[in-house]
Amino acid sequence: MNSNEVRQKFLDFYQKRGHTVIPSSSLVPENDPTTLFTGSGMQPLLPYLLGQKHPLGTRLVNSQKCFRAEDIDEVGDNRHTTFFEMLGNWSLGAYFKQEQLPWVFSFLTDELGFNPEKLSVTAFAGDARLGIPKDEESIEIWKQLFQEKGIKAKAVELGTEQQGSEKGMQGGRIFLYDSKKNWWSRSGVPEKMPTGEPGGPDSEIFYEFEDTPHNLAFGKECHPNCDCGRFMEICNSVFMEYRKAEDGSFGKLPQRNVDFGGGLERIAAALSGNSDVFQLDIFQKALLTIEQVAGIPYAQNKEAFRVIADHIRGSVMMISDGVLPSNKERGYILRRLIRRSVIKGRQLGVQETNWISEIGSSYIEFYKSSYPELAQKREEIGIILTLEAKKFAKTLETGLKLLEHIRQKGNVVSGQDAFILFTTHGFPIELVEEIAEREGMGLEKEEFSKLLEEHRELSRTSSAGKFKGGLADTSYETTKLHTAHHLTLAALREILGDHVHQRGSNITAERLRLDFSYPAKLTQDQIQQVEDLVNAKIQEELDMVRKEMRKEEALKLGAEMEFGVKYGDVVSVYIAQDKEGKAFSKEFCGGPHAQNTKELGVFKIIKEEAVSSGIRRIKARLNG
Ligand code: ALA
Repeated sequence: MNSNEVRQKFLDFYQKRGHTVIPSSSLVPENDPTTLFTGSGMQPLLPYLLGQKHPLGTRLVNSQKCFRAEDIDEVGDNRHTTFFEMLGNWSLGAYFKQEQLPWVFSFLTDELGFNPEKLSVTAFAGDARLGIPKDEESIEIWKQLFQEKGIKAKAVELGTEQQGSEKGMQGGRIFLYDSKKNWWSRSGVPEKMPTGEPGGPDSEIFYEFEDTPHNLAFGKECHPNCDCGRFMEICNSVFMEYRKAEDGSFGKLPQRNVDFGGGLERIAAALSGNSDVFQLDIFQKALLTIEQVAGIPYAQNKEAFRVIADHIRGSVMMISDGVLPSNKERGYILRRLIRRSVIKGRQLGVQETNWISEIGSSYIEFYKSSYPELAQKREEIGIILTLEAKKFAKTLETGLKLLEHIRQKGNVVSGQDAFILFTTHGFPIELVEEIAEREGMGLEKEEFSKLLEEHRELSRTSSAGKFKGGLADTSYETTKLHTAHHLTLAALREILGDHVHQRGSNITAERLRLDFSYPAKLTQDQIQQVEDLVNAKIQEELDMVRKEMRKEEALKLGAEMEFGVKYGDVVSVYIAQDKEGKAFSKEFCGGPHAQNTKELGVFKIIKEEAVSSGIRRIKARLNG
């Protein structure tokens, strides 16, 4: 069974049980500034788990695109990936353990055909300090379910991972662990949860790989949460019925929820009996392409093959959700993925980088029916991968030459060397570390960090000066252009897509200049459309309304932030809206602005050009 079939069977299974299939949300969280990426299926559903009514009902099912940046360095073994698909079903107060556990067990054994002998499960051992009891109900349900398959399932209390490796399995099938292992919330263990955060005990299912014996390097005894590779967690049912109160105690949510997450790739791998998720259909084309380009088989350097296969898939998914390579936040993670792919390619002896977009295309083909946004952005994805990889390959050449020079000179990379490599040549410190370690060179990392911090402090200070209070020149001409600037950004986002964001700006009394993220030259037609839309909005006589609000609120509203500016807790937002209050543009901004767009006259784009890879620039004027 291939992974597309597993996904479809899951959706069908729950649809038959009254669930509505909902689409995957974007990898870029919409209303959640606390996290860079969507890393679990429940994140986009948070308001509904807390009690808000979901328009599609109380039973939902989907496959959610997930990205876990914290796992980047884990990639290379047979099971870790940064991007993955999480199969999810949710009860928003509709059903609980009595339905969920039998369903998931039946899905795995009856629908997919898992041998129940190979499955072990876990449940929450309870926590007296939190006042949360042992999950007796789940234990009883599991006993019954295994019984129905002719298996006597004994419950064994292990507590911690450490205790697990001391006590071992003891002939058990149901294993009880503490809150480090059998409690789930977005922020992890109960102690780490902020006030208001929901969470609860969970019950995981593990698959045992017959041909993988316990590895003593991981502890005396094996148990499901042992990391030796014999067991692999394939899914998790969270019984989300608690919420952390201000005094640190746990109260009940208004409803009892189920949040189920199943790793699609892991389920498919377990089903094939092969613990290497990279052997799945998903990665075949990628591995084959690398084999052809490098001229060596996968088996010869699995680690490098896996990193490349994983990272390019992650990059494709991110770009399709509007992320562009940059030096900040999401963009930086994307940049790291592409750069690491280039580096691993070089380790395999490949200097050129055209294969990166080739592998990208194979993922688009594979996923396009499940995630249509991939096909829609096919061209953009190819261009961005190619540009970024090429640019980095050049950086590498320069950096490697400099490092070779340093090696011959004295074998120590000084803080200043590393700083210059990074700021002037874009050569990442992680890579300097890797090479220094491999070549036995010294590296003054602390000195580097200090120089970088000073540098950042300096640029923060200068940008704060530049943006303080909005425009420096507040003549009427400049103010009007400032308003036109907001309209232009909103028009660009409407015409080109909402992945477009401002990347720089400059306004004089004669013209506005707006730098924005977009991978390709705008066509004449696109330029015309942007110009027309701005002029239409001028004619609609929109009011420029200023509102002060909390930053979170502004983000929720979808207000565009100005690039590179740090905001306080209370921000000023300018909204261009019609008489009914329908907004066309919302931006974090100190002003000042025209009162109404009718003051602006006629808007004209005078130039469209490239600034750097992935960044375009528009200059425009107002006439009359
Ligand atoms: N939200 C749960 C998890 O990510 C299902 O494991």
